[in-house]
Parts: sequence; structure tokens; C-alpha cells
Amino acid sequence: MAAARTRIAIGIIALAAILAARSTSGQPAPPDPALAARIAAADLAAGEVLASQCTICHTLTAGGPTLIGPNLYDIVGAPIARTAGYAYSPPMASLGAAGGTWTVELLDAFLASPATTVVGTRMGFGGLASETDRANLIGWLRTQSVAPAEMPGLAAVDPTTPVYEAYQADRGRNYYGDSCGLCHGPTAGGDTAPPLKGPVFQANWNGRTVWELFNYTRRNMPADAPGGLEDERIARILAYILQENGYEAGPMPFRVDRASLEQLILRF
Ligand code: HEC
Ligand code: HEC
Repeated sequence: MAAARTRIAIGIIALAAILAARSTSGQPAPPDPALAARIAAADLAAGEVLASQCTICHTLTAGGPTLIGPNLYDIVGAPIARTAGYAYSPPMASLGAAGGTWTVELLDAFLASPATTVVGTRMGFGGLASETDRANLIGWLRTQSVAPAEMPGLAAVDPTTPVYEAYQADRGRNYYGDSCGLCHGPTAGGDTAPPLKGPVFQANWNGRTVWELFNYTRRNMPADAPGGLEDERIARILAYILQENGYEAGPMPFRVDRASLEQLILRF
């Protein structure tokens, strides 16, 4: 009994510390480096499997309905108790009313022990004891968003962060000419189809992940025969398109790997 009470007290202190960690500018404090490193190294496939434990009570896709608990799409970095009309427990509702957000620290603490982190929560889930499991799950939840929350260690990609090697873009230029140039113009500046470089293209893709661009292209392009291109060919074509949009080549290859492409956010 005493032990349980001590744990609850520690939970409240930990929560207070997490919430107090917001600096006076209103910006959340930088995450705990060890936690950030675990999330940067997250095994997203393992996280997706862990998330199946949540789906008895939560939907995880965009616009999903309330089940026993509220929808969790785009929850990392979101305001606490954001779902209008959902009957949150009083402590959860008051964290939301105080302007709290689901920082990775708070999620990590809450998923370790919901009942002692938000005392009085209605979430009837025992918690995930393993910090690696929590990091994998939070890492995966973070990708369930059109614009995943920014985090140190998960660098937002900009033209100074190479995401392809030069030879890939060189090959990509030829492949582009064979498969895309007819509609999108010889150097991607647009023709009967929209440009794949410049302000409109960049506005469409800014903040989205390289994975989304890859997946969109794989499913929909070339528009007259979609779905017929090999993944490696698409990777090279996209390396060329990134080059045309100001990204520089570097030592990191463009790999056809969902988990790593989901970490790369386009910033123009
Ligand atoms: C047995 C049902 C149940 C399970 C299983 C469950 N939850 Fe919940 N969850 C709830 C309920 C109910 C609430 C609302 C809690 C409250 O109001 O105090 C909630 C709330 C939440 C919130 C706060 C949402 C918001 O809008 O602020 C998060 C985050 C969350 N759950 C994450 C998870 C994750 C991640 C898992 C899987 C590891 C999980 N939950 C498993 C029932 C569940
Ligand atoms: C037969 C003509 C045609 C070919 C060939 C073609 N596309 Fe397209 N593409 C289109 C059209 C039309 C659109 C606009 C689609 C829409 O708005 O729904 C488009 C849109 C796109 C977009 C989204 C642009 C944006 O601003 O969001 C991308 C990316 C793209 N194409 C890539 C490619 C790539 C890469 C290739 C070569 C593998 C290719 N396309 C080949 C016709 C084509």
C-alpha cells in the first residue's frame, strides 16, 4: 500500500516535471536525449505490431471514429484531450484545458504507466514496461501523420541533408526522360502534367515525407500506365527530382525502405 502510494506520488512529481519543462517562451523543452535517441533508432515495424494492442480501444487512422478511447492519428505533439465531444476523465480534461501537449516525454511516461502518470485516467491499460517497446511504438505513432512532429535526432531534411547519391540522380535523369518527361516536361518543369519542381510542386510536398512522394509515384505514375515501374527505378527518378528541387547529393543512398523514407521530411 505504502509502495503504491509512493509510486503514485512519484508519478505526479514526474508529470509535474514534464509539464514544467516547457520553457517560458511556450516552446516545449528539448526532449530527454536518451529518449530522443531511442525514438530516432525506433524499429517502426515493431512499433506497428505493438500498436495493435491499442486498437481494441483506439482507431489509429486519419478520421477514425472514437471507440472506447479517442482516435490517435497524429497524436505525437498534439494537444491533450483534443477530441471534441469525447468524455475524457476529469484529470485528462484538465491537462488539456491547461494547454498540455503529447510530448514524447509525456507519452513515454503515460504509456509506461497510464494510471500513475495521469492519476484518475479512464484508460484501462496496464502499460508497456520496456522502454524499447515504448520508443518503437512512439516512433511509429509519430509517422502516422502527414507532417510528423519535429524532433532532434530525426532531422527534418533540407537541401543540406543529402538523401541520395549522385550516381542515382544521374541514372534517374535518363529514366525520367523515358518514363515521365513526355507529360512533365524534359527537365521536370511541366508540360501537359504539372511541374515536378518549383514553387507549386514544393508547396504540395513541403512537410510531407519522402515515403509519401515515393508511394504516390509508385501507385499513380506514369499516369497512363500506373504501377508498372520497378522500385529502384522510381528511387532514381526521385533522386533526380530532388536534385532538380535543390537537394544536394551526398554519401547517403536513396534506399527503398519505408521505415527510413518515413523519417525524411521534405523541406523546401
Ligand atoms: C482498454 C482500452 C484502452 C487501451 C487498450 C488503450 N487505451 Fe488509450 N485511452 C483509453 C481511454 C478510455 C482513454 C481516455 C482516457 C481519459 O480520458 O482519461 C485513452 C486515452 C489515450 C490517450 C490520450 C488521447 C487524447 O486525446 O489526449 C493516448 C495518447 C492513448 N490513450 C494512447 C494509447 C496507446 C498508444 C495505447 C496502446 C499501447 C492505448 N492507448 C491503449 C483506452 C485505452
Ligand atoms: C501520361 C502522362 C504522365 C506521365 C507519363 C507521368 N505523369 Fe506524373 N502526373 C501526371 C498528371 C496528369 C498529374 C496530375 C495528377 C493529379 O493532379 O491528380 C501528375 C502528377 C504527378 C505528381 C504529383 C505532382 C504534385 O505537384 O503533387 C508526381 C510526383 C508525379 N506526377 C510524378 C511522375 C513521375 C516520377 C513520372 C515518371 C515515372 C510521371 N509522373 C509520369 C501525368 C503523368
